[in-house]
Amino acid sequence: NIARMSSKPSVYVTRPDVDESGLDLLRESCNVTTWSKASAIPREDLLREIKGKEALFCALTDRIDAAVLDAAGDQLKCIATISVGYEHIDVHECKRRGIRVGYTPDVLTDATAELTLALLLATNRRLFEANREVYNGGWKSWSPMWMCGKGLKNSRVALYGFGRIGQEIAARIVPFKPSQITYTTRSPKPEEAAKVNAKHVGFDEMLSLSDFIIVCCALTPETKEVFNSSAFEKMKPHCIFINTARGGVVDQKALTEALISKRIMAAGLDVTTPEPLPLNDPLLKLDNVVVLPHIGSADIETRKEMSRITARNIIAALKGCEMESEVNF
Ligand code: DGY
Repeated sequence: NIARMSSKPSVYVTRPDVDESGLDLLRESCNVTTWSKASAIPREDLLREIKGKEALFCALTDRIDAAVLDAAGDQLKCIATISVGYEHIDVHECKRRGIRVGYTPDVLTDATAELTLALLLATNRRLFEANREVYNGGWKSWSPMWMCGKGLKNSRVALYGFGRIGQEIAARIVPFKPSQITYTTRSPKPEEAAKVNAKHVGFDEMLSLSDFIIVCCALTPETKEVFNSSAFEKMKPHCIFINTARGGVVDQKALTEALISKRIMAAGLDVTTPEPLPLNDPLLKLDNVVVLPHIGSADIETRKEMSRITARNIIAALKGCEMESEVNF
């Protein structure tokens, strides 16, 4: 039995708090070791634990770079992250070493689009601000212009990024009757855009004409901090800025200044730099900001399936088969 056990490939899982169904799948054909706590594994523990493993099941809370790959050793065959974003993995280094990388696109598209709409509506209709007034005595009586926000109807809504998630957000915006949906990407996507009647616009046009800007792009060297002070300077004063992509796309200091000075009207952020946002961060003192703790894909069935996809990616790679969702280098 011991001999049979040891012939199974070894997998290290950095998050024992992922849905058990994924871990059960892995256990059928692998020796699975997991980090012991329901929190991100400290770097020194990851460097120690990954030694000798053939596969790594990780999350966006883990930075997987050359040092981690060195610590693992040459037998490491694949890494699978339980996320669609994989900017925390040095994929170039993986490619150089022939290590395959899996991720979880598609499954979380609807959940993330849904959360984006929830965050947008909470921000533009000031739900949390209004809710606080109920509890702190600020609600005196119905009042004609009190807690008014800026509706989506007849407004110009921009998507920065128009991949799977951006397209699903756009589809959910349509019933709110915007005057125009626009999208900003390197190259136009006419077929996808036609479904929601979206117009391709350049970055500056998006900044100066939009009532809502929704960030739904991947974090890459090109998108890092594209929303900086000069970008916020170009926005309309009543612009509402929503980010459910990655905090790194935004120069957060510049955003904070734009919100304090009311250079823009409000922001809804599911992602920040850093995460978690320190309790003394100036953003948390502002009424015109809604901050959520990175819960875009946090829908029960979605997260369960993400756990299983990550497991299936690993099982496939260890068999030398195509992964269900593999990063194409
Ligand atoms: C992702 O998958 O990249 C999200 O940010 C977390 O689900």
